[in-house]
Amino acid sequence: MKSQDIRKQFLDFFQSKGHLIVPSAPIVLKDDPTLMFNNSGMAQFKEYFLGNAVPKSTRIADTQKCLRVSGKHNDLEDVGFDTYHHTMFEMLGNWSFGDYFKKEAINWSWEFLTEVLKLDKDRIYVSVFEGNPSENVPFDQEAFDLWKQFVNEDRIIKGNKKDNFWEMGDQGPCGPCSEIHIDLRSDEERAAVSGFSLVNADHPQVVEIWNNVFMEFNRKADGSLEKLPAQHVDTGMGFERLCMALQGKTSNYDTDVFTPLIEKVEEITGLKYTSDDVHDISETQNKTNIAIRVVVDHVRAVAFAIADGQLPSNTGAGYVIRRILRRAIRYGFTFLDTKEPFIYKLVEVLANQMGEFFPEIKAQQNLVTNVIREEEASFLRTLDQGLQLLDNVISSTEGKLVDGTRAFELYDTFGFPIDLTALILRERGYELDEAGFEKAMLEQKTRSRAASEVSTDDWKILVQGNTETFVGYDQTENEVKITRVRKVDSKKDGVLYQIVLDNTPFYPEGGGQVGDKGTLISANETIEILDTKKENNLILHIAKSLPENLEGTFTARVNSNLRTASSKNHTATHLMHLALRTILGTHVEQKGSLVNPNNLRFDFSHFSKVSDEQIKEVEDFVNERIQQQLPLVERRNIPIQQALDEGAMALFGEKYGDNVRAIKFGESMELCGGIHVENTANIWYFKIISEGAVAAGIRRIEAITGDAVKDYFAKQENTLADIKETLKNPQDTMKAVVSLQDENAKLKKQVEVLLRDKIDGLKSDLVSEFQEIDGIHFLSKQVNLSMSATKDLAMAIGTSMPNSFVFLASIEDNLPNIHCYISKELVAEKGLNAGAIIRELGKLIDGNGGGQPFFASGKGKNVDGITAVLNQVLHYIK
Ligand code: ALA
Repeated sequence: MKSQDIRKQFLDFFQSKGHLIVPSAPIVLKDDPTLMFNNSGMAQFKEYFLGNAVPKSTRIADTQKCLRVSGKHNDLEDVGFDTYHHTMFEMLGNWSFGDYFKKEAINWSWEFLTEVLKLDKDRIYVSVFEGNPSENVPFDQEAFDLWKQFVNEDRIIKGNKKDNFWEMGDQGPCGPCSEIHIDLRSDEERAAVSGFSLVNADHPQVVEIWNNVFMEFNRKADGSLEKLPAQHVDTGMGFERLCMALQGKTSNYDTDVFTPLIEKVEEITGLKYTSDDVHDISETQNKTNIAIRVVVDHVRAVAFAIADGQLPSNTGAGYVIRRILRRAIRYGFTFLDTKEPFIYKLVEVLANQMGEFFPEIKAQQNLVTNVIREEEASFLRTLDQGLQLLDNVISSTEGKLVDGTRAFELYDTFGFPIDLTALILRERGYELDEAGFEKAMLEQKTRSRAASEVSTDDWKILVQGNTETFVGYDQTENEVKITRVRKVDSKKDGVLYQIVLDNTPFYPEGGGQVGDKGTLISANETIEILDTKKENNLILHIAKSLPENLEGTFTARVNSNLRTASSKNHTATHLMHLALRTILGTHVEQKGSLVNPNNLRFDFSHFSKVSDEQIKEVEDFVNERIQQQLPLVERRNIPIQQALDEGAMALFGEKYGDNVRAIKFGESMELCGGIHVENTANIWYFKIISEGAVAAGIRRIEAITGDAVKDYFAKQENTLADIKETLKNPQDTMKAVVSLQDENAKLKKQVEVLLRDKIDGLKSDLVSEFQEIDGIHFLSKQVNLSMSATKDLAMAIGTSMPNSFVFLASIEDNLPNIHCYISKELVAEKGLNAGAIIRELGKLIDGNGGGQPFFASGKGKNVDGITAVLNQVLHYIK
């Protein structure tokens, strides 16, 4: 069965059991500070378990793109070395939100595996939670009894907390789980050693394929468990492992999920991948296999993350993506001998293979390819540079042990991978001081952990079960009550409080627009709201302190000046988006946006500089629509399909609900939750102030609207007035500037001529001043010329005389400069070195400098030192 069909069978099966099939959420998470990437199917449903939101169906199933490369679930360093772990993988899952529980979950998983897919029952083992008295969670007798209907007791493993109690992170929903494992070994092997003993023992062919979690608890900040209001089911099946079992393979990499990618790597590198790692293969072949697995695994993670809007960068999620890609580049560089970018060539294969089910990868194939190619090229340059630096480290090492802190510097500053350093050192007969490296690494980690420490208290709930409503599209002020609060203490921001209201006019940061600021007012106090953010569907109002009386009634008042300024920029962003797609082409996709009261910033895919003419066209396009006074047409809560049919623009990597809000100004229509002007006329005017590149294939435009444009024009006008005044108010300013430039050019030419004459004169004067000291034609003198003219003069006089030693000094802009010329014969015979002389004498003028043995220059700060320098030179020669 092809992988495509396996995926479909799963979804069809659960649809037949009354489940709603939903698309995968983006791989990158936007509003959950505890998690960077989706690490399991349930992440997008977390709020349903916690009771913060209500699901559209109590039964849901999907396949979710997951990434386990950071936080509690991190498999990155295993990937490549085994045949069944991945950075990105698909998780097939079915969920019950307060609907069915253990019985249906277990019965259906058995039915699907053995009756629909017809997996061999004798190869299946299951596990149930043995219980944990210290947390007061009992042995899962119910799951045990349910499994006994299908499998003998000697196939049911009682597992501990590590294997059979599933938690998504340090805090959040969790519960006992029941895993299904499959034994893919040959009959002989199975007869010799029972599969039971190999479950959860890291055997590559006895692997977990499906986990059924029975969500009953919430893990609180203090580590304790509390019962959730309802019981839920959360399951996850490893799609690639299921494919392995069904396609009769013993490695995920031998399934059709990976073989097309592997074949492409083979074609590019001319190397062969051998699927059998276990038996007699050479050390080199083993390394080739590992590297190929690393590359084909990592390209999937990186490509899907980019397609979902996460570009590689130096911080946060972007940095994780960059590191994954660099790991692949490095394995290629070292073990596949790829010294040129090549991973980007796999994107096409991936898009053809997965694009039907995941259209985002096909639609953005170009961008993903370009970004990966550019990242590869730049990291390969880093590797090159690193190799040179490593050469320096080696040549300055005494003995055979290379200092760990220097290896750490290479790693930390240049991103040069430590295992590559170790490998190269070994090849050259050196050894890495690993303890020193580890120590430096630990010190840095401790430093950065201390800098990013955050402690979050549990919520203090004041009003139970309230689902907050946002009323901010219609008003900026409202009567409110506080429903919950908590304290967050971080190194970065100090102590802050998060306040949730029963309903709120405050817009939470989202869709690029910054969160509202404002006040929370009661009869006797005013609390300032510094920012508003959304987290797991809650709107958090952030304040430095809490009101004395949390139970009272408050007026929530948004700072509407700031909000109005932001709304102008937000609407202008929409108009500009349309302008860019109209003028540059429909390949333009939004890749990032920041809308605040001062300006707007917009990142988009486009492969060359936007020319000045195009910028002008974009400005005109937007300003025309401002002049047309287009009214806001807001469609709140319409079905997503209807909005798309009407031509609304949706963004990749954005998670939309079934019902959406669409914002229309003339032909511009976007799915958007932000705050906009009532009429484009309110924007007043739109002006682009910068355009540039932010990454390969990504441009950034910054622009302003409204009062900011007035200020901008006023500043321009002032500058012009200043210029006029400086020019003594000519009638035609432009003409005056041009004539000034012409005059300047003419004068420059004259000066050059005069200077040349002067140097010629000086040269013939100075030549007569040479003295002969012990066979050396010596001359030292201070002249009155610019630094560059002095330098030319020293060179000219020096070359005019054999066996010459010329030393000149001068002053430019009140700073001393010195120059030394020594004939090549003297350099060779007497071992004189102009560079060394300049460096040494430079000290006398508080300066430095250098150059070659026959010619060097230096610059200093202390003019009074010149006399000493000239005396010293004479002394030295004598
Ligand atoms: N959330 C469960 C897991 O990831 C199903 O294993």
